[in-house]
Amino acid sequence: MKAVRVLEYGGPLVLNDVPTPTIAHDEILVKIKSTAVNHLDLVKASGTARQILPIDLPWIPGHEFSGVVEQIGSDVTAWTSGDAVFGVTGMGAFAEYLAVKPATIARKPSNLSFEEAASVPVASQTAWQGIFTQGHLEKGQTILIHGGAGAVGAYAVQLASHAGATVIATASGDDEAYLDSLGASRVIDYRETQFEKVLREKVDVVFDLIGGDTQKRSFLVLKEGGHLVATTQPVSQEETAKHRVSGAMMRLAPSADALGGIARLLEEGTIRPDVATVYPLQDAAQAWKDIAGNLSPGGPGAARHRSHGKIVLRVA
Ligand SMILES: NC(=O)c1ccc[n+]([C@@H]2O[C@H](COP(=O)([O-])OP(=O)(O)OC[C@H]3O[C@@H](n4cnc5c(N)ncnc54)[C@H](OP(=O)(O)O)[C@@H]3O)[C@@H](O)[C@H]2O)c1
Repeated sequence: MKAVRVLEYGGPLVLNDVPTPTIAHDEILVKIKSTAVNHLDLVKASGTARQILPIDLPWIPGHEFSGVVEQIGSDVTAWTSGDAVFGVTGMGAFAEYLAVKPATIARKPSNLSFEEAASVPVASQTAWQGIFTQGHLEKGQTILIHGGAGAVGAYAVQLASHAGATVIATASGDDEAYLDSLGASRVIDYRETQFEKVLREKVDVVFDLIGGDTQKRSFLVLKEGGHLVATTQPVSQEETAKHRVSGAMMRLAPSADALGGIARLLEEGTIRPDVATVYPLQDAAQAWKDIAGNLSPGGPGAARHRSHGKIVLRVA
């Protein structure tokens, strides 16, 4: 099969022929239709975090996918060949085939294209886990979401709003209309305003998709007993104790049940996916350049083409 691989830490992405995976009794072989790009792919491939995020080289990136069940292990009962699925994997989705465990996939929402479906699993489950499992968000509460217009933030805004919470998001000012359309009650332009100076009432949950100074200042707006959930860096336990709140960095633990729930919300139109750009698999290097450009200081902002959602690679 064709696959895009990293041959050495920091090396280029290389498209070539590799053996198609063989499946164990409890696995499914998925013919990949689309995959999406995550910051985590770039971090792992660079080797800068190899102590905590090691990879075996050569390595096939790709943490999420949509596709069609091609072959089923003898112990697998829930799926049939030809089923359209989507899900999360630890690696390997920048390829034509992937072996997965049934516990990581769900049925693809019928109203989504394969490209849209590939953009959903990581961002939506991170949002779900962050605000409900770890943030314990409940109806009637208020949540502050930092980075609300990003891939994860957009799901967090939609899910929190659907759950009956009041949603305040920090984002660039020109993302206000987008965030309104997702269900945010209030948008604070992080480039112009310090959120802690304009929030009159404290919030129950902070979902921090940014880190750094944004995380530090978040303690000032969190109610006693509230929850700070971070995706980018650990939370200071000294600060949580001082402010009598709980706080932790989450690490996505994918679940077929959660993804199944998200699929239902997508199918009924309660939440929607956003795809920023679609590239063919052979242009994976360009997709990585786009992601790196969004992350570099001065990269995003006024000069950036303002599209929302994930960068997707079309495989087949
Ligand atoms: N721990 C985990 O399990 C896990 C899972 C998934 C993702 N993550 C991490 O979570 C982070 C967010 O992911 P993502 O995919 O949503 O990123 P993304 O799509 O790049 O979105 C980032 C958003 O944050 C905005 N932003 C930048 N600086 C900001 C600030 N100071 N205040 C408010 N908003 C700001 C950006 O807006 P502008 O471009 O307009 O500045 C952009 O809309 C990433 O670091 C990712 O690696 C962690």
